[in-house]
This record gives sequence, structure tokens and C-alpha cells, in this order.
Amino acid sequence: MAFELSLHTGDPARLATPLLAVALPSDKPVPKTLAALDKALGGALSRAVKQKDFKGNRDETLLLFATGKGPQRVLLVGLGPTPEHGAMVRAASLAGRKGNSMGIERMGFWAEGLEGAAIENAAIGLSLGSWDYNDLRTQPPASDRPKPLVAAVVCADSAKGADVALGNGIAVAEGQRIARTLAIMPGNLCTPQFMADTAKDIAKRHKLKLTVFGRKEMEKMGMGSFLAVAQGTPQKPKFIVLEYRGAGVDDAPVALVGKGLCFDSGGISIKPADRMEWMKFDMCGAAGVLGAMEAIARMKLKINVVGLVGSTTNMPSGTAMNPGDVVRASNGKTIEIINTDAEGRLVLADVLAYAARFKPQAVVDAATLTGAVVVALGNTAMGVLGNDQGVVDEILAAGKRGSEPGWQLPMWPEYKDQIKSDVADMKNVGGRGAGTITAALFLAEFTQDYKWAHLDIAGTAYSETDMISIPRGPTGVPVRTFVEFVRGRVR
Ligand code: BES
Ligand code: ZN
Ligand code: ZN
Repeated sequence: MAFELSLHTGDPARLATPLLAVALPSDKPVPKTLAALDKALGGALSRAVKQKDFKGNRDETLLLFATGKGPQRVLLVGLGPTPEHGAMVRAASLAGRKGNSMGIERMGFWAEGLEGAAIENAAIGLSLGSWDYNDLRTQPPASDRPKPLVAAVVCADSAKGADVALGNGIAVAEGQRIARTLAIMPGNLCTPQFMADTAKDIAKRHKLKLTVFGRKEMEKMGMGSFLAVAQGTPQKPKFIVLEYRGAGVDDAPVALVGKGLCFDSGGISIKPADRMEWMKFDMCGAAGVLGAMEAIARMKLKINVVGLVGSTTNMPSGTAMNPGDVVRASNGKTIEIINTDAEGRLVLADVLAYAARFKPQAVVDAATLTGAVVVALGNTAMGVLGNDQGVVDEILAAGKRGSEPGWQLPMWPEYKDQIKSDVADMKNVGGRGAGTITAALFLAEFTQDYKWAHLDIAGTAYSETDMISIPRGPTGVPVRTFVEFVRGRVR
């Protein structure tokens, strides 16, 4: 369900709402603008700060009860010592999460001097925190059901520019909601067909051009690498191409590419049973592309963007590819399959080769590609690699602005020996060391015609632990990085 975000300007003490979240930085006196609110709280706000019941630390909260016609409750939320972009998203997300658990339908959010990017970040945070997925639970009768939070009001410092900032926040928030919903949905519901249907819905609402290729069309295009993965599954593979036109016909587009494995069992090189269920998340790169296309279309950015998604599942079966098989990708290169579990790169090979026909100004792909990136960078940073330092730097900066930090790994030619094959142009795995790098070097074989960056999001797209401001589950990564990257390229 969409989340309704709106604006309030003026004294937050006058906002009639069941809950007002007030974000405060650590160890600062209560701002004067909150005098009326403090009064409605009988002075509890200033007392809580003075007596250090509330210090404003990151993730700290304190609930107070008010009287009068304004907010019924006030939730103090800590911003921590250095309130930057990420702190605002985090505080608003925590506020949204608390609000959603309280059984109230609407809430407000205030922080000092909210304007521009801070409004956008607050809106994104409120949406992130309030989101959850209950479609598959049997619901108790309506009378016993806690009401979900469906709306939030951002208290802006002034009306100037606030509408645009809120609109941008809503755009990103809706993109993230699409991506997170696709990510959490089980593989039997979020199938390649469902990915294509989601793309169709986005295309229809925003009048984007949509092309969906099936097995036959891909055969004609010689996509033997993608099809090798898809030959083991009864699911119909979908190659989805979404085109957003925000600039002239002749303007080179940015291409966003996503790995869309709706389930990755490993194939014949089957994965261990323990935690295999997590592999429904192997389409998070693709979900990020669809979410970003939604956000970009809502923002009406003056740039052309193509979203490309390769979607299938990786299954063991009598028709599945086998270790030792050699396949030919659409750019003519041959690949020896050593491990059928390294399937994401096989799908991306043909999708990346296809991207060249758009003569893109830059291509960025996102994929839950390697377990190795989780070893290297954990669940905090995505791995960033590429064939052009300028594009890589733009991605790192975009991730920073969007609170989705990335860290670059090298693509030195020394590593390339690891994917040399005895019989083909390359093999699909590079041995034990540097798994994220050899995977990216494999992809680079299909990106020679353009500037390209690759995001390995295997550690960041889905959180196995509750992160206080965001529950266990899909994080929305890499929607914001994609959107910030594209925004940064609008001339
Ligand atoms: N989808 C996985 C990557 C993955 C693994 C993500 C574990 C999150 C946790 C990918 O298709 C895969 O299986 N990669 C293999 C590659 C290996 C066979 C070279 C991996 O990382 O183990
Ligand atoms: Zn795999
Ligand atoms: Zn995979």
C-alpha cells in the first residue's frame, strides 16, 4: 500500500496528530522553536533534556504525553552528534517504525530547520521505517487488528521549495517500496513473470516503453549464456527492457542493469540446505532497477534512462546446464561453466552485451553476485568495481548521498589469470581468492563498448539482523544509489 506523505509549516505544537516525532541532536539545549510544544507537554521536554533522561544519541527514543489540541504524544528521537543525511533518514525511519507499531494511522515528524534535502531524507526515512509486508499472514478480525501507519506529515521550516523536496522524497520512497516488496516476496510468487508484470505496471503508470523478451527471442539473439541458466527451470525466463525518456531522442541514455534470479538453488552445483531460503533475494539487483525506474519517472528527471533486467531461476534438473559445459554468449565469447552456482554473471553477460546497442553514456549494474563480498565488506558497504574511474567515483558519491555506502575493489589485470579456461575464452569462476573481483572481471568481458560500474550488493540488499531503524529483511539497496547517480547526470 502506498504511504501518504504531506507537509506542515508552522509551529509543530499546532499539528493535531496522535504522534509527533521530534528529532534532536545529542547534547544540545532544546531549540526555542519548541517552546509551545514544551508547554503542551507540561515542561516534560525541557526537563527530559536537562535531566539527561534523553541525550539525543543515535537510535535513542523517549515517549512523552501531551495535552491540548496539538500532538497527543511526542516521541523524542536522537540524531546523534553529527546530524548529516544518514542521521536524518535513520531517525525518521526509527520514528516511522515506532509509529507503525503503536497502532496509530498517522504521525508527524519535526527536526530543526527541515528544508531541501533534509525534507527528502525525512520523507524517505518515514516510509522506510513504516514499511512492512503482511500480505501472506492470516489477519485477525479488523476490530483486533492494530492499525498500520498509513500517513506522515513532515514539518518543514518554510514552504519554500518544500513541495519539490517532498515530491522527490515520495518518488524515492515509492521506488524503495516496490524494490523491498519484490525482495521479500517468496520465489513462488515473485517469479520472472511477476517481475515482468511489475515492469508492466510501472510502464503503464508512467508511459514508459516496455519490451519483454522470452526464451524464443533470446535464442534468436544468441544469448546462450543467459539461456544456459534458464534451461534448467520450468519458469519462463524474462529479459525486461524499460525505457524512460526525459530528454531528447538523440541523448545517450544511462543504462541500469539488474540480476533478477527469483531463486538461486545453485543448480547442479547445488547449495547446502541451510539458509538456502535466503536465495529468494537473488533478484535484488533487478528490484533495484525497477524501483529506481519508478522513482526516476516520478521525479520526471530530464535524462534518458534504460532499465534492463535479466530474470530466471537457477535449478538442478535433467535439462540443467552441467559443470564442464561450454556456452556462447551473444557477443560471440565462449564460457566454460565450472560451477553452475556462478549463474548471475552468466545472465548478466548477455544483458550487458545487449546494453551496448543503446550507445549508453554509462552503464551501472547491481547484483547479489558473490558471497565473497559479504566476507570482504560485511553488511555495511556494497562492493563497487568498474572499467572507468570517473563512473566509479560518481557511484561512490551517489551511494554516500543516498546513505548506501560503497567501497571500491580493484580490477587489476593480475586477477584475470584466475578466469582463464583450458577450452573456452573464459571460465565462470575464478577459484578461491578475490571472488568479487574475478566475478567483476568476468562481467567486464561484456562491457567493452561503454563506461561501466558494477555494484555487488549481496551483503547490503537484505539484512539478516534487525537494524533498529529497519527490521530484518530487504533494505531497499540499491534504489537510492541508482537514483542519485542518475540525478547527478542530469545536465
Ligand atoms: N547469489 C549468489 C551470491 C550469494 C551467495 C549471495 C551467498 C549471498 C550469499 C551467487 O549466485 C553465487 O552463488 N555465487 C557463488 C559463486 C561461486 C560459485 C564462485 C558464491 O559466491 O558462492
Ligand atoms: Zn549462485
Ligand atoms: Zn545467484
